[in-house]
Amino acid sequence: MTRDLNLYFDNAATSWPKPEAVYKAAEIQMRQACGNPGRSGHTRTLEADRLIYRTREAAARLFNISDPARVVFTYNATDALNIALKGFLKAGDHVLYTAMDHNSVLRPLGRLRRDELITSTMIPCSDQGYPDLDYLEHSYRPETSLLVINHASNVTGAIAPLSDMIASAHKRGIKVLVDAAQTAGVVPIDTQKEEIDFLAFTGHKGLLGPTGTGGLYVSSGLDLNPLREGGTGSQSEMDLHPASMPERLEAGTLNSSGLAGLLEGITFILNTGVEEIQKSESHLRQYLYTKLQSINALTLYGPGDSGQAAAVVSFTLENADSGEIGYILESSYGILCRTGLHCAPLAHQAIGTFPEGTVRLSPGFFTAEKDIDYLVNALNEIVRLVSG
Ligand code: ALA
Repeated sequence: MTRDLNLYFDNAATSWPKPEAVYKAAEIQMRQACGNPGRSGHTRTLEADRLIYRTREAAARLFNISDPARVVFTYNATDALNIALKGFLKAGDHVLYTAMDHNSVLRPLGRLRRDELITSTMIPCSDQGYPDLDYLEHSYRPETSLLVINHASNVTGAIAPLSDMIASAHKRGIKVLVDAAQTAGVVPIDTQKEEIDFLAFTGHKGLLGPTGTGGLYVSSGLDLNPLREGGTGSQSEMDLHPASMPERLEAGTLNSSGLAGLLEGITFILNTGVEEIQKSESHLRQYLYTKLQSINALTLYGPGDSGQAAAVVSFTLENADSGEIGYILESSYGILCRTGLHCAPLAHQAIGTFPEGTVRLSPGFFTAEKDIDYLVNALNEIVRLVSG
């Protein structure tokens, strides 16, 4: 086989390529339209303000949020999750989370536990990555205040049964935080229909925007203590951060060039249709999964049915180090993927690949079937090399 140029199979880490309009909008915002949103009253500031508002409106439309002011912009999903967890939880609270959670949930919870503020219970997951709903039913305590749901695993792609889990928490008056890092833009999310309390999302994966962008939706009637306080350009005479949304959870100058790109990413998704994107990615995952199944030496992880999975497939090769396979894929074939624990150690424990981890392949909306064919041929050659 000849070496191809950078075949990208790492969309679960960050999507690439982006729609052309995303690159252009971020550049134009920096070069020509640059003004500090919410500060001053000059033309550029007002334009930046409008741009940010349009981005809020687009995110609200995508997730069916009636009031765009309930969408706050963050640096990424990790930032949004920290704002939600640390702003919502109070001393004595008990939290439920799942084995598929990412370190962006596990570490803030670990910190709050270490500081003896909260207690928590992990809901185990199957070896495909689906939460044990029976275990969930028996894990509530009188002091449980929050259920964190990992919408789709970044290791196996398994999509959690959102409606069932939310109903289970809500019938006990418990709020729900959904981590949509792997699903925003590629799986339909309707915050009103699902009655989601908090939705954390990143801008640079399925939403096709630049890194350094993301957001948190906080449903009306809920208030979070701000994680960061500072300048908002409003009520500057007060010595406390304003109570009104979205300023309540946004302090300091926003990433307006990033958000200009994000607006174009979301616009692309709205124009294409999330259902269409999900159909296409689900087809690509199934195509990849089925082809990988034909390589007997590989052990695959995650659902065999891509209808209930985001576009992620993990595998191991017996007696071979995953990092080494990733290295050969790039150095000999120009194929980019992510290996190891993927910042999700409990997920790897659940599927039996801890601490070595897996090779993770994540196609995206712009991946072609011929890219997958090339990847599978490369893996066949690698298997022959390693086993021979
Ligand atoms: N959480 C991202 C990943 O899964 C970065 O690669």
